[in-house]
Amino acid sequence: MRRSLVIGNWKMHGSCEQLNTLLSGIKTGFADNAGADLVVCPAFAYLTLASDSLKGTGIAWAAQNVSEHEMGAYTGEVSAEMLADVGCSYVIVGHSERRALFAESDQQIANKVGRVLAAGMVPVLCVGETLEQRDSGSALDVVADQLAVVMAAIGSEAIDQLVLAYEPVWAIGTGRTASPEQAQEVHAFLRAKVAGINPDAAENIQILYGGSVKPDNAGELFGQPDIDGALVGGASLVADDFIAIGKVAG
Ligand code: PGA
Repeated sequence: MRRSLVIGNWKMHGSCEQLNTLLSGIKTGFADNAGADLVVCPAFAYLTLASDSLKGTGIAWAAQNVSEHEMGAYTGEVSAEMLADVGCSYVIVGHSERRALFAESDQQIANKVGRVLAAGMVPVLCVGETLEQRDSGSALDVVADQLAVVMAAIGSEAIDQLVLAYEPVWAIGTGRTASPEQAQEVHAFLRAKVAGINPDAAENIQILYGGSVKPDNAGELFGQPDIDGALVGGASLVADDFIAIGKVAG
């Protein structure tokens, strides 16, 4: 039985004051015995704030990015070892904003996944097609290729240590969610791909959907057999909405 997972990606939003308010709202609304695990991803500057605030709550915190390098003269970078050292448990890797706005290649993303695994954390590997790719009928090929590059780098054994997030680029921040059927098709495809790589991992791997998930569409999405939770952007910045999505997942 896969446990549901709801991850809030706060992107480059917030201040100490705003995030303290958001965190206290999330803590107040969180029921520890719920069926879903909750994780929040603040910007690097606020990881310690989140870590301090969430101690002992059962809510985890995570990073939105990581360096592909192990250590050294890489001004501005944060290594996987550093994140693990301060208690980070998950790291988002390959978000479409990193791919598109910062020109991250599949190979760099694969390197990052390797670093996160080597440091003992869980990579949340994002894959997803653009609208142009969907319209041309290549959505499944795109996500398969994105996954294949990472698998070639980390090896088939390691796949059971990943969380996958299917995030169609056209649904991120646009208010336009993939329909439950569209999302399920890709999730089932990804699970079948995982089964082809490592049959034991396919039943256990959590595959999250991301792209304009809100309290009012979460139920239909989570009702699909291969959707195990969500990677939530905008709605995770509103405590009540994030908690509501977590409750639907649980
Ligand atoms: P959104 O973002 O929920 O605001 O569409 C999702 C994401 O970028 O992970």
